This record gives sequence, C-alpha cells and structure tokens, in this order.
Amino acid sequence: MKTIMIQEMPDHLGETVRIGGWLANKRSSGKIAFLQLRDGSGFVQGVVVKEIVGEELFAKARSITQETSLYITAEVTVDERSSFGFELQVKDVEIIHEAVDFPITPKQHGTEFLMDNRHLWLRSRKQHAIMKIRDEVIRSTYEFFHLNGFTKVDPPILTGSSPEGTSELFETKYFDENAYLSQSGQLYMEAAAMALGKVFSFGPTFRAEKSKTRRHLIEFWMIEPEMAFVQFEESLEVQEQFITHIMQSVIQNCSLELERLERDVSKLEKYKAPFPRVSYDDAITFLNENGFDDITWGDDFGAPHETAIAEHHDMPVFITHYPIGIKPFYMQPHPDRDDVVLCADLIAPEGYGEIIGGSERIYDYELMKQRIKEHNLDESAYAWYLDICKYGAVPHSGFGLGLERTVAWISGADHVRETIPFPRLLNRLYP
Ligand code: 4AD
Ligand code: MG
Repeated sequence: MKTIMIQEMPDHLGETVRIGGWLANKRSSGKIAFLQLRDGSGFVQGVVVKEIVGEELFAKARSITQETSLYITAEVTVDERSSFGFELQVKDVEIIHEAVDFPITPKQHGTEFLMDNRHLWLRSRKQHAIMKIRDEVIRSTYEFFHLNGFTKVDPPILTGSSPEGTSELFETKYFDENAYLSQSGQLYMEAAAMALGKVFSFGPTFRAEKSKTRRHLIEFWMIEPEMAFVQFEESLEVQEQFITHIMQSVIQNCSLELERLERDVSKLEKYKAPFPRVSYDDAITFLNENGFDDITWGDDFGAPHETAIAEHHDMPVFITHYPIGIKPFYMQPHPDRDDVVLCADLIAPEGYGEIIGGSERIYDYELMKQRIKEHNLDESAYAWYLDICKYGAVPHSGFGLGLERTVAWISGADHVRETIPFPRLLNRLYP
C-alpha cells in the first residue's frame, strides 16, 4: 500500500492509502468519530464508523489525544461539504507516539503564552496557512524576477559598511575587527547590478530597533532588486508589477489558506497595477487638511499618517519625493529641486504600512563623496562602494520589499510576529 500525503489525496480517489500524520482535533458520538488529521501538507477529516471498524478500534480512535502521531489506513472518498473536497474512511489506526497534554489546545490562549510556545503554535491551522502564504510569496518572487531577466545575487550578512545609517546596527566581533549584521544588502546589490545588470536578493536583515509595534521585527527578510540603466519612474513600474504578480499568485495558489484565514479575496483582487502616486508635498497637504496638525513639511510619517493616506485610496500608494533630510545618503536628488530626492515608499492599504522603500541612486562620484561626508560616515569603509561611481557609472535604481509586512497584509495577520516561523522581537530570542 502507498503512503501518501494529504495534498496527494485527489489523485487517489477510491483507493485505500496510508497517511502519516498527527491528530489536530476530534469529536465523536457513540457510533461515529471524526478525526481531524494533519500531515503538514494539509488537513483532512478521517471518519471512523464503529459498525465498520469494530468495537476495539473504535474505542482506540476515540481515545487518541491531540498531537498524537499516527499512521492511518483509509479509503479516499469525496466530501462535498469541505472546501478540500475529500475525506478518509478509516480502516486502521496505528499510533506512533502518544502526545500527552499538548499545551496549545483549540481554545483561545493569550499572545505571550502562544509566543512562548511558538515551536508548537506553528502546528495550528492558522499558522500553517500563513506559512504556506509566505512560501508562495517567496516562490512567486523568484518566478517574477527570473521571468523578467533578473539574476539572484546573495549579498553578505556580515558587513563592514551600512546603507541605512548606523544607529540600528548589531555589532559583532570579526576576529580583530568590528563587523555588523546586514541591515540591507543594497550597496552590494548596486555593485552586483554593475556586473549582472538586473539583480535581486532575498535574505535576512537585522535591525536593533527599539520599536515595539505590529510592523517591526528585529530580524526580517528582505527582497532587494537593483537595476542598472533604470530610472526612478521605471522602478515604480517594476514595483507595482511585482506586487501584482505575487498577489495574483497567492490568490490562485492559496485559496484554501485564504479561506482558512477568512481573508476577503475580493479585496485582494482589486490590488492591481497601476498604483496611485502621491508626492510627499501633497501627502503633507492632505494630512493637514484632514485633521493631522501634528505633522509639517520635513517630518517623517508615523503609522497613523501612512494609514490615513492609504485608506483614502483603498489601494497600495506610492509616496514619492521625500525631503532629503529624512532619507539615507545614497538617494539621487531631484533634477529641479534640491530639497527632495527621487525616492518612493509603497504604503499597503488596510493599515499595514510601508512595505517597500526604494529610490534612484546617486552615480556622480563627487556628489556621492560629499553625501557620505555629510552623513558622518567613515569614508574608508565606503571606498569600495565609491568605485561604482568611478568606473563606468550609470543611472540605476532599486528597492527593498519587507517580506513579513507583505505576508501580514496579504494574509490579514494583525502582527508581523505571525508571519515568520520564529520571530525575533524586542525582548524575545526564544524559542
Ligand atoms: O525602507 P528600508 O529601510 O529600505 C532599505 O533598507 C533599502 N536599503 C532597501 C533598498 O532600496 N534596497 O526597508 C525596506 C523595507 C521596508 O519598506 C519594510 O517593508 C521592511 O523593509 N522593514 C521591516 N520589516 C520588518 N521589521 C522591520 N524592523 C523593518 N524595517 C524595514
Ligand atoms: Mg523605509
């Protein structure tokens, strides 16, 4: 007999198969027991009928405890009431290991308790669905960039120079030197774009941010494309096409997961390119006219400001041309204004905040040198980076998409901690 996975059941209709899994939940009457089984690939109901399996096996099935591991032998049948569409008519149950008092029961638990038990919480239906969506976002990201002529490049994680300023760096010993954990691979991706044209990275990034919000992780994963000969406006087009592609992929390939999360798919279907562009200047005016008197030109936006702007459009919105004073050193100045730079943040709707930060990059050697100085950065640490401006410099642009914020938005999770398997948060390094 074949041992198969739950997700393969549709190919085995009418056959008797063996499945290795865990008991997620159960209910029973005197004559029939329903076992909710999971095997990692999916969830399915196993039906145990006393008259068919006999007194002894029925009693055994009824007594199985949550998260006990087992092999089930059963016939695959159709179940029109479930969205999966199939169920198992159980013939035999072989217990592998009995789980006693599994802490995460189907009842409600507090967040701290769940986070302490993250290694077990991951087994629940909701967390399973979010991890599947995360995987689909990653898969479709590689698909999008490979379809569009990009090459995957892996920047280092231990670094000597930093793109986003020095205040949030994790420092570590590197033999006799100091090194930092990467907060962004951008500078390396710029160098790689000069070698490979269009490149993208996907890797972990680290920020020692003291922010305790539903959008901040200490360790998060970023997708960072960088494109030679691509200017600001064209980069925005790549960004909106990219978001559209991953959104369509999740809608198409994760319908069971979205249903389990009770995510309103009709809403997601609307999020398609083109996305509105709002200048920073207009965003400030809009906010001031709509009751936000706590912000003036030159300030950075807080979460409530971003939410108000995105809500007004009910779409992801690009906020463009921020003041030079609140952005990093490498951004290309506006051709006709010296107070703003050629950059944009993409703000997700429904309160999920900034999911992309990007810009055109400076490629003039003297200007870059001057900006490094103005930002009080150690020029020797950036000597290699300056070479990009020195040898065949070209206009180029790039951006960074935060994976966890994107997954939170698509799956409707209310905190980024649920969108990464083992979140690193302020004051949380375990499990
Ligand atoms: O806006 P950021 O800081 O941009 C950069 O790092 C650029 N160097 C990227 C580039 O142009 N190559 O970060 C990019 C994105 C943010 O828009 C956000 O989605 C995510 O990374 N992000 C975080 N996600 C979770 N927790 C945090 N602490 C985050 N900080 C940034
Ligand atoms: Mg940003």
